[in-house]
Amino acid sequence: MRRYANVQMNDVQIIMMRLIMEFTHQHIKTRKHLHIRTFAHPHIHAIFAVMNILILGSGGRESAFAWKLAQSAKCDKLFIAPGNAGTPQYGTNVNIKVTDFEGIKQFVLAKGINLVLVGPEEPLVKGVHDFFLADEQLKNIPVIGPQAEGAQLEGSKDFSKQFMQRNNIPTAASRTFTRDTLQEGMAYLATAGLPVVLKADGLAAGKGVLICTSLQEAQLELAEMLTEAKFGEASSKVVIEQFLQGIELSVFVLTDGNSYKILPEAKDYKRIGEGDTGLNTGGMGSVSPVPFADAAFMQKVEERVVIPTVNGLKKEGIPYKGFIFIGLMNTQGEPWVIEYNCRMGDPETESVMPRIESDFVDLLQGVAEGTLHEKELIISSKTAATVVCVAGGYPGEYMTGQAITGLDNMRGSHVFQAGTARQGEDVIATGGRVLAVTSLQDDMFAALQQATADAARIYYDGMNFRKDIGFDLL
Ligand SMILES: Nc1ncnc2c1ncn2[C@@H]1O[C@H](COP(=O)(O)OP(=O)(O)O)[C@@H](O)[C@H]1O
Ligand SMILES: [Mg+2]
Repeated sequence: MRRYANVQMNDVQIIMMRLIMEFTHQHIKTRKHLHIRTFAHPHIHAIFAVMNILILGSGGRESAFAWKLAQSAKCDKLFIAPGNAGTPQYGTNVNIKVTDFEGIKQFVLAKGINLVLVGPEEPLVKGVHDFFLADEQLKNIPVIGPQAEGAQLEGSKDFSKQFMQRNNIPTAASRTFTRDTLQEGMAYLATAGLPVVLKADGLAAGKGVLICTSLQEAQLELAEMLTEAKFGEASSKVVIEQFLQGIELSVFVLTDGNSYKILPEAKDYKRIGEGDTGLNTGGMGSVSPVPFADAAFMQKVEERVVIPTVNGLKKEGIPYKGFIFIGLMNTQGEPWVIEYNCRMGDPETESVMPRIESDFVDLLQGVAEGTLHEKELIISSKTAATVVCVAGGYPGEYMTGQAITGLDNMRGSHVFQAGTARQGEDVIATGGRVLAVTSLQDDMFAALQQATADAARIYYDGMNFRKDIGFDLL
């Protein structure tokens, strides 16, 4: 016998009830437009396993999460804090900052939120999950995203290198230096080959990595990072590592701390200019699947990286419920880890979510309850391509406030809004990365062509997007 929503039931009764629930729920979901009230009573809420969900974040990644979660029969009310001008298509925007933990708490309690999905790294590294666990009223509300300790996989490059070394995970050889060991760092650089990679230890908004091609340049940069705080507190420690040659891709793992699911892999395009030229950006596009990540390569990734990572966390007593983003270099068919992130990627999520056919709320519930191994992950064999539309001037100082037109002109894509806001009747650009245009098609060529053509159907002053996203993979 088990207790289920305060009723004693045996397993057969539970199965019967679940079947009835599924049926009733599907029925109600399809009739939602008739304004039939769903379940208001908290016990009934539990029995029917529908959830009120809060997503933290406001970018294209969070739009893609919201789009996917809103399709689930298990999602009742969906909120996005703070969201953007596009997210009201999927749920309700809430004007709370992702690092305003007190504000999040009040909202979660007031609205009966049953699950919180954290989009960006900042609240995780700052301990939003720990905040929930330490609060009497919040501790039973699951947060998807690791606690601060696990988030150090992203929050500290030194921590993640040491973690990989302890767990025999393939990564570039490296050493870490501080201000006190600057002279040793200088000497180490003299013995390291070129090019050499310098990484600020802490979060540096994607700007803390330098690839130096001469010893003089490397020594100058190391000194600036350590003694002149070139990247602020983030560069009070610097990881010096060997340069890896190859082609990059991102692999995403969802874990409940015990078992894991490997989500669709993706390739992103970081440079502003076509042909991968110019300055680095937050991401100009993405494609999933990645043709050079064939079954043999992905098996190596699973055996040499994913399993040792999940087991390493467990062995070291680091709780981890959420996403592990593994940045990989494919060097002649061998995977090397460049970095971990403690959340999904943006714009990779926009290409990953459309390929997941399973109910994503069900998977997140598995993470929350530690039953991920019971869940099924079905991945579409189609290709998703995402083209990001950015603001004029980005990634430098960029224009904001332009009205966007053509959002309804899509022929075969979905627009995940990112840096947008509503101003009267208009949707205006407010961020560097403004929109992500994603198309899911049977073959890669069709997906790339459709997303690129549909991006061109949008207009705002200064708009820029790359017309070559993914074409190198054909
Ligand atoms: N060891 C390395 N060899 C070659 N390129 C690297 C190496 N480490 C980082 N890079 C390049 O620098 C980029 C940024 O490094 P990464 O560790 O991902 O830092 P972050 O994303 O936090 O800025 C990578 O995407 C990759 O292109
Ligand atoms: Mg990176």
